[in-house]
Amino acid sequence: MSLNVAVIYYSATGTVFELAKAAATAAEKAGAEVRLRKVRELAPEEAIASNKGWAEHVLATQHVAEATHDDLEWADVLIIGAPTRFGLPAAQMKQFIDTTGPLWGQGKLINKVVTSFTASSTHHGGQESTILALNNTFYHWGAIIVPPGYADPIQFQMGNPYGTSHTSSNGEVMPGEVELAAIEFQTKRTVEVAAAYQYGLSHV
Ligand SMILES: Cc1cc2nc3c(=O)[nH]c(=O)nc-3n(C[C@H](O)[C@H](O)[C@H](O)COP(=O)(O)O)c2cc1C
Repeated sequence: MSLNVAVIYYSATGTVFELAKAAATAAEKAGAEVRLRKVRELAPEEAIASNKGWAEHVLATQHVAEATHDDLEWADVLIIGAPTRFGLPAAQMKQFIDTTGPLWGQGKLINKVVTSFTASSTHHGGQESTILALNNTFYHWGAIIVPPGYADPIQFQMGNPYGTSHTSSNGEVMPGEVELAAIEFQTKRTVEVAAAYQYGLSHV
């Protein structure tokens, strides 16, 4: 049974992008059809230009297609990533989420199998609250939220049962072995749950 997986992310300075790419690779490895999509940038050009890392990342990811409602409809599984901004998901991701009203109104987001991940500068800088804030929306969608929990030994190293989270020291540190293994596990688990759900539906 082939599943469609959309990895939808926002990243200013590239740390969430590294996790998003690893999620896309893991989903492909799990046998899914995969779309890797960034949400639209909303910040003014002068803000982006004032931060070297941000400007470079925008250039480096020009080839990545922007997320659309078609991606949401197409996907059986949504893997959503956004950096922490004052303990909440980045506004760019929130804005994309806020455009989904019409899909929600038609019931098209019901039973999407969803999981999410984040990055922040510091360990206790809002990683859990960012993922939980994303989950608030997924409850409204009627999605099926899949947490990684401590369902694999890597989770005891990564340490966040709500979703993979990376501590970037203000964008200086990219996700390492542990975070990449954790997002791989989280993706695999989410795809497996979605496959079991689809199998169950086809045998009701
Ligand atoms: C406006 C703003 C608010 C932020 N708020 C937080 C925060 O509350 N806690 C934290 O630890 N890091 C915070 N950060 C840092 C980012 O979350 C962190 O650098 C993250 O790794 C960026 O991900 P990216 O490289 O994918 O853009 C903030 C950054 C910005 C620009």
